[in-house]
Amino acid sequence: MMGGLCSQLALLLLLFPAHGAVESQDQPVFSRIIGGQDVQEGKWPWQVSVQEDDKHVCGGSLIAAQWVVSAAHCFNPSASPSQYRVVLGAHQLANPSPHQVTREVQQIILQPSYNKTSSVADIALVRLEKPVTFTKFIQPIALPGASRQFPVGKTCWVTGWGRVEVGKPLPTPKTLQQLEVPIISTAACNDRYNSLNPNSPLGPERIKSSMLCAGYTDSPKGFCNGDSGGPLACEEGDTWYLAGAVSWFRIRNVRGELCSDPEFPGVFTRLMAYDSWIQG
Ligand SMILES: *[C@@H]1O[C@H](CO)[C@@H](O)[C@H](O)[C@H]1NC(C)=O
Repeated sequence: MMGGLCSQLALLLLLFPAHGAVESQDQPVFSRIIGGQDVQEGKWPWQVSVQEDDKHVCGGSLIAAQWVVSAAHCFNPSASPSQYRVVLGAHQLANPSPHQVTREVQQIILQPSYNKTSSVADIALVRLEKPVTFTKFIQPIALPGASRQFPVGKTCWVTGWGRVEVGKPLPTPKTLQQLEVPIISTAACNDRYNSLNPNSPLGPERIKSSMLCAGYTDSPKGFCNGDSGGPLACEEGDTWYLAGAVSWFRIRNVRGELCSDPEFPGVFTRLMAYDSWIQG
């Protein structure tokens, strides 16, 4: 499948727009998730499933007993918070764990600068209707603060329950997937995307300083996605930090094929850029 690109650690590329049809080649496409490996239960205890009308739509990260970070594009601006729920401590979405907890959503706060076209500020805060109790399976991830740097080449992890191939949802029992990805410089990431589409209406610098890229630019391993809104988690010392929230990546190659040239990094909302907004 896909020319053997999907080795164990490799990812399959999958990308689906979060809402509506697949977008044209020169627009960002929003990922659901990707391939990778099955996760061991309890390994990523901040991972949540954001559900709209009881269907998984996006990932998210628990940052405090009553707060989750996700992506702004995950939320339908005309929907009410009561249409969403957050499932915490889940492992296999099709096989509910005794450790999982569901919370209603009290409030969804989209970053005020969120721009759907450019994907700038693609971040949202979700306030749970009541706090959760932390357990081995439900734990917050640390925020990185405003000035922490994650160097280019550092490997971090993307996790989620997204699709594993185009048109193919994660198979039952829908076990959480993880993927190891190196951080890529903004310049290299822009170069990679510009090589695909030199005349993008978003200009040659569509990857902004408020975004973070991770994945592969020239590896036959290919990139798989991550669940939109879900975590890019980086470990430093003994602490895991939320470096990014899955925002978008390219789903079509120059021939217009989906997922057959998965050599594009994923683009994340850089949490460090929104520290003061989150703290506020
Ligand atoms: C959103 O981004 C697009 C593309 O960069 C830009 O043309 C537009 O002016 C932005 N919208 C706002 C409200 O800033």
